[in-house]
Amino acid sequence: GEPGWSTTADVVVVGTGIAGLTAALRLRGQVDKILVVTKDVLSAGSTQWAQGGIAAALGPGDTPTEHEIDTLVAGAGACDLEAVRVLVNEGPEAVRELIAIGANFDHAEDGELSLTREGGHHRDRIAHAGGDATGAEIQRALVAAIHAAPDIEVIEHALAVDLLLAEDGGVAGLTLHVIGEGQRDGVGAVYCRAVVLASGGLGQVFAQTTNPAVSTGDGMAVALRAGAVLRDLEFVQFHPTVMYLGPDSTGQQPLISEAVRGEGAFLVDFEGNRFMQGVHELADLAPRDVVAKAITRRMLEEGKPHMWLDARHLSPETGTEEFWERRFPTILATLRSHGIDPVRDLIPVAPACHYASGGVATDLWGRSTVPGLYATGEVACSGVHGANRLASNSLLEGLVFSRRIAQVLPGELGPWREPAADERQVGVIVGEVRPALQATMTERVGVLRSADGLAIAAKELAGYAARGREDGTPDWETTNLVTISAALTEVATLRQETRGSHWREDFGQRDDADFAGHFDVVLVEGSP
Ligand code: SIN
Repeated sequence: GEPGWSTTADVVVVGTGIAGLTAALRLRGQVDKILVVTKDVLSAGSTQWAQGGIAAALGPGDTPTEHEIDTLVAGAGACDLEAVRVLVNEGPEAVRELIAIGANFDHAEDGELSLTREGGHHRDRIAHAGGDATGAEIQRALVAAIHAAPDIEVIEHALAVDLLLAEDGGVAGLTLHVIGEGQRDGVGAVYCRAVVLASGGLGQVFAQTTNPAVSTGDGMAVALRAGAVLRDLEFVQFHPTVMYLGPDSTGQQPLISEAVRGEGAFLVDFEGNRFMQGVHELADLAPRDVVAKAITRRMLEEGKPHMWLDARHLSPETGTEEFWERRFPTILATLRSHGIDPVRDLIPVAPACHYASGGVATDLWGRSTVPGLYATGEVACSGVHGANRLASNSLLEGLVFSRRIAQVLPGELGPWREPAADERQVGVIVGEVRPALQATMTERVGVLRSADGLAIAAKELAGYAARGREDGTPDWETTNLVTISAALTEVATLRQETRGSHWREDFGQRDDADFAGHFDVVLVEGSP
């Protein structure tokens, strides 16, 4: 129907984590009117939850080339080399710029940046803030910078529903569902010349995730419905050490940062065996997919719902208790709130959905395949993560590629386009199906996949028929979750090999002789 309200902006940025706010701040002064929209409040996205940190070759002796090698190895042969080079070469400067706008990173006693290690890194390369509150500090600094930029307009509680496209297929605007009062309430239209999607990932596709409730794949679904290519969707990363809170605990679960293993903690099974030894040369600090697989394997072998993280011995010289309080205050508080004292107790951990390595396919400048549509951060697939993202490369990707978008977008800003009449009938799938969807995706399309399970999931997803037009954000979110789940299941079925975070029970090996390359998804008429 007709939008209830409308406005205009040269550029609309969707999402307010590190990717969205960096893009908006860097575009400032280069285009006339920038509008930033977020489905929740400014700081509600995934960035504020990032613990470990941000990776860049900043330490003495480290080089972008070494960072490149670790990134490519973790990515299991599916990274785009050019994109990785952009990431690691521009990374150090981008992090220094983040420090310059006011993000307070931790420093060692000698005044140098304090750098730690995480899975897959062969050097101490992870800058962190507030111990384990890196994302929260970055988000705080970026929100402060946005508040100091009153010419950037922000609309909160505004879900991006769909792109408005011109006759030529380029971006003409965006429809939003705003939960507001007064002039802008309900569905409205923003007529604009470009849209930057920076709306994050899809963790809520699964029953247990480290992602906040807002991560429902909205940006990917919006892009797909607009005809954009999505890429590498099957590569969904499961974080190995997510606190296990029992079988009935769903939604966002507490992350136990890899940096805890970086500081010396290790995994043990129910007999106390250190089962990562012998699995990989880096043992407990192997790339994330290797550790998640080893934990899952041991859980299946022992018939247990979780394994254990032993961090009782960290830094005995300074005192383990003091060490935890200084280095991991956020995790310590969370553990204590669940009755676990990491100085005395083992921590129950299991893998849970953490990160979408794939997303909206972009070139080296953040351009999607739709004219006027850019994507950056977790929503995008720039090619830097391949089949498995290296720890702490995600904040970096958002930062680096948003800077790049701001370099090219002003010069290639298209005309104001007239939206074409929209013939599409996008039905909405009501919110109640969400728990069943998440249970199926977790069981059949989660850490461990097989042709049979994938077929069952695909059938179930096809059965979630649209039941007309609801107008609530939860219904649109569920529709987006179903759309993305169907696309993910499709490519997970196509990839008949085990590679990185895509683990096929029925095709146990990586197939380099017959590597299929990337799987792209474009909307086929009739899918949800
Ligand atoms: C962590 O702190 O373990 C998460 C780091 C990441 O996901 O890159």
